Amino acid sequence: MLPYGHQSIDQQDIDAVVEVLKSDWLTTGPAVEQFETQFANHVGCKHAIAVSNGTAALHLAMLAADIGAGQRVITSPNTFVASANAAAFVGALPDFSDIDPVSYNLCPQALQANWQPDTSAVVAVDYAGQSAEMPAIAEFARSQNAVVIEDACHATGGQFEHDGNIFDIGSHPWADMTIFSFHPVKTMTTGEGGMLTTNNDEFAAKARLLRSHGITRDPNRFQGLTSATVGHSDSEIGPWYYEMHSLGYNYRITDLQCALGISQLNRLRSFIQRRQEIVEIYNELFADTEHIVTPKLRNPRDRELTSWHLYTLQIDFAAAGIQRTEIMQRLGQKGIGTQVLYIPVHLQPWYRENYGYAHGKCPVAEKFYTRSLSLPLFPTMENNDVEYVAEKVKIHLNQTATSTLVA
Ligand SMILES: Cc1ncc(COP(=O)(O)O)c(C=O)c1O
Repeated sequence: MLPYGHQSIDQQDIDAVVEVLKSDWLTTGPAVEQFETQFANHVGCKHAIAVSNGTAALHLAMLAADIGAGQRVITSPNTFVASANAAAFVGALPDFSDIDPVSYNLCPQALQANWQPDTSAVVAVDYAGQSAEMPAIAEFARSQNAVVIEDACHATGGQFEHDGNIFDIGSHPWADMTIFSFHPVKTMTTGEGGMLTTNNDEFAAKARLLRSHGITRDPNRFQGLTSATVGHSDSEIGPWYYEMHSLGYNYRITDLQCALGISQLNRLRSFIQRRQEIVEIYNELFADTEHIVTPKLRNPRDRELTSWHLYTLQIDFAAAGIQRTEIMQRLGQKGIGTQVLYIPVHLQPWYRENYGYAHGKCPVAEKFYTRSLSLPLFPTMENNDVEYVAEKVKIHLNQTATSTLVA
């Protein structure tokens, strides 16, 4: 079976995890800090805060930016629900602005047109690994005093070109905070896991504090407790002592996961190169195929910079005379796993019920969804796997729904 996404784990990854298992630390030990330092060095940012998953990192970003009730957060409808849910977690209003028909990322012009005075943050998603148009988005959002959060859960290790310079996702100047996910289908994995990166000291300090119950053990930050409040004096503050300064969460990640993360980070460059090669092969094989539109980069200079988490085709199923479910089933019978990414988030029942969103709010994303089919893409795919998938997709598309299956 060729699933739509799959992790690549080698002996080096396994050895790294086993080493932690034999050590004294399973959870927050030295590997967490090492992973954070190496990740920060990799993307070139000042702070990297490792957490239990990407959703937790999104939630922490909202809290760090003080987003809450009475504020609006605009994100892309073409994303996993977590990008929008994080705004709802903190009592803000999650809202959606339509996508660009080429990149399938937030359209800066639509964002500007949909802007409301209560908008306090934008969550720009790098769909499939292609960088959102961060300079344009940030320039406008900041002119309105909004915080810019980049949901780069699809784009770990990605870069982009702007005005002749190359920028790393996770450290460039057009995001105040950037969020990564290390779920197994992503470009590198820690099993479950996530990261928040930022160059802003205040956001970093808040996110770090809230990751673990709002508790600090840093003597420089102690407010001090008096004998009247806890029955002992400041002079009794000893090694056991800690203070809770905010209502935080347990969003910690384990040493086991971070050991895997360090090892995967060492392999990330090769994963991305292989993903780029596979995308090129698919693009060539599907070039000029009727009813199919292959993924396009808004900036062609990003060809060797994009980390490609997904390979998503746009297929005119109606014109091809076949239903998407049927082609997915047929491909499944041939050992090919496919996915539909994404159902526009504003059309999810919870969003419709709670915010009154309806079909027609984001027409480009809605049309994108009806035509979307993500094919297998992961670094251990062989060239002949890619050729096999492309061949079967083409054969099944060229048959009408009623014809006899011969492929
Ligand atoms: C765009 C996007 N944002 C956020 C998330 C949430 O990440 P996690 O599953 O690590 O919580 C995902 C995961 O699928 C995602 O694809």
